[in-house]
Amino acid sequence: MTVVRSVVLGCGAYLPERVLTNAELAAKVDTSDEWIVQRTGIRERHIAAEGEYTSHLATKAAEAALANAGVDAQSIDLIVLATSTPDHTFPATATQVQAALGIHHGVAFDLQAVCSGFVFAVATADNFLRAGSAKRALVIGAETFSRILDWNDRGTCVLFGDGAGAIVLEAQTGWGTSADRGVLTTHLRSDGAHKHKLYVDGGPSTTQTTGHLRMEGREVFKHAVGMITGVIVDAFNASGTSADNVDWFVPHQANKRIIDASAQKLHIAPQKVVMTVDRHGNTSAASIPLALATAVADGRIQKGHLVLLEAMGGGFTWGAALLRW
Ligand code: ACO
Repeated sequence: MTVVRSVVLGCGAYLPERVLTNAELAAKVDTSDEWIVQRTGIRERHIAAEGEYTSHLATKAAEAALANAGVDAQSIDLIVLATSTPDHTFPATATQVQAALGIHHGVAFDLQAVCSGFVFAVATADNFLRAGSAKRALVIGAETFSRILDWNDRGTCVLFGDGAGAIVLEAQTGWGTSADRGVLTTHLRSDGAHKHKLYVDGGPSTTQTTGHLRMEGREVFKHAVGMITGVIVDAFNASGTSADNVDWFVPHQANKRIIDASAQKLHIAPQKVVMTVDRHGNTSAASIPLALATAVADGRIQKGHLVLLEAMGGGFTWGAALLRW
């Protein structure tokens, strides 16, 4: 029996020009390159320029993804943009990307699931495509976390950075087996009881300010590996695949230790793990497509490869997606 599959046509990413190194941070707060690298694997992050907004980063990543896919912006009828750092409280940043790309048809909206945003956006676009509500989608993760950091808090300001990444998904016909190209299965979870462990202490309805990111790092770490690996096992079970079948593990790039521990628990070999956190830190919803774009550009991810995505973030939210490139 044939089914509709959301097949990746291309991907692209964008990082702002300005690089902020660990050494520069050590000159501002009581930290060191050694501490940051040892605890997180991060060596540098990119910071958006004054006047450079999330929509600008997202548009550049979208343009790169469209070019990589070899398709025209006018063929896009759905834009799902995952972000927790929108240009404005409203309208949705996705609509500004839509306008910048010169698209006046279809639908564009934002999705907010913090660091899990890209996996949530892939699942959402996949459901639209499989339902026949759209034919070709841009799925974007874009963030300017530098704007919500407390630059005096060494426990958080060393961890995050700005960036954007995108993929183009198209509805195509598949056979309904795990040999199909496209998104094979997605699994999303949330549990709001964990709010206080990772949140922003402002917002339009509470303080009428943007607020700053607050995190109990050790508490987040404690939950991360169990939640991530649990939802990945669900994805394997639902698709009749296993860790042995995975060609590339492309996790949310938050922290090398979380990624290593998750891969080890799942018995995924280190050489199958795509790791870019050293170069851009935690870019929240942008981190997975940034890593994807790197591994596609350097030739690691090839057509037909089984790619496993996962993320966990504020809420908590967490999720996994398995797709055949
Ligand atoms: N430089 C130097 N020392 C620091 C820094 C810093 N930047 N930050 C904290 N410290 C100190 C603390 O003050 C503490 O000192 P003390 O022992 O004198 O009190 C000591 O280091 C240990 O602090 P912990 O918070 O216990 O350090 P830990 O080993 O847990 O590492 C970290 C902190 C890196 C934040 C870790 O908990 C972590 O990775 N947590 C996961 C957080 C994460 O990745 N969040 C991203 C969002 S969620 C997600 O995407 C999965």
